[in-house]
Amino acid sequence: MHRTIELTHVALEVIAGLKLSSKQISSKFFYDSEGSRIFQQIMRMPEYYLTDCEAEIFETHKRAIGSFFCNDCFTVDLVELGAGDGAKTKILIEDLISEKVNFRYIPVDISEDAVVQLAGAMKQKFPDLTLEPRIGDYFHMIENLSREYPNRKVIMFLGSNLGNFDHQQSISFLTGISQVMSDDDLFFIGLDLKKDPEVIRKAYDDSQGLTREFNLNLLTRFNRELGANFDLKGFMHAPLYDPQRGTAMSFLVSTRDQVVRFAVTDESISLKQWETIQTELSQKYDLAMIEALAEASGFQVVENFFDSRHYFVNSLWRKA
Ligand code: AVI
Repeated sequence: MHRTIELTHVALEVIAGLKLSSKQISSKFFYDSEGSRIFQQIMRMPEYYLTDCEAEIFETHKRAIGSFFCNDCFTVDLVELGAGDGAKTKILIEDLISEKVNFRYIPVDISEDAVVQLAGAMKQKFPDLTLEPRIGDYFHMIENLSREYPNRKVIMFLGSNLGNFDHQQSISFLTGISQVMSDDDLFFIGLDLKKDPEVIRKAYDDSQGLTREFNLNLLTRFNRELGANFDLKGFMHAPLYDPQRGTAMSFLVSTRDQVVRFAVTDESISLKQWETIQTELSQKYDLAMIEALAEASGFQVVENFFDSRHYFVNSLWRKA
């Protein structure tokens, strides 16, 4: 019963987006287990430079970052929102362990598979690590953070995940975090920077076709879970990058007039030939935008850490 209500709720949200004059589907729907698996593969492709850049930043600056996290502190709670496979975080954890910092690692992710795998891999690599994995929606978790984790906190939000929110969502998410933080806590965020537009475009239009597969998997998911009848042959993956706004967008474009039915709510939507469905926004930033975001959400920037090409930044913030 609960599942049916949830599915109807999802279907209504998806269908409402498909009835807009500019059709859109929220990118949160990408991450079913197949979508999460494809995303892990995307992160390993050279064209998707973001992952390697953030790993390079951690390798190069781990001691400086670690000493911001805990310098003479008694104990620290490291909360990672949207932890995924935690691969890059291992670099920071290794440093904290070798410096004998007393800390707990609290990875939070909506995907149960991701959390279970991460916990297994972390325990194997660091048997003495105090690990408290959490499965759930981090928007809701934030509210209870201070109550559940009274120690000094470092809240991490890596991988330019913020880029998938629009401006208003970003400000309200960040404000929500600053409001639950104490003056001594830190927020550590990874953000992708503006750069050669061609480099960005290729990251979302890779030669192996993995991003295409990731985008089209949305339709496969809706066919399976919402009883929709999307014909994947009638859609193409169309990414673009607007260098002025720093916005990468992914679309699914209907290659013909078509009608799609959703059995779960017994509704249909129609698409004209070449009509678009926006499925993702991936914002790229410059330092002025980052300062403005921090300021508008109750933070101040403490330090920025860059990779050697200045493609990506990990920015450390405290409450203003
Ligand atoms: C999760 N997120 C930061 C990725 C991004 O770059 O926007 C998702 C992604 N979409 C296509 N490739 C990767």
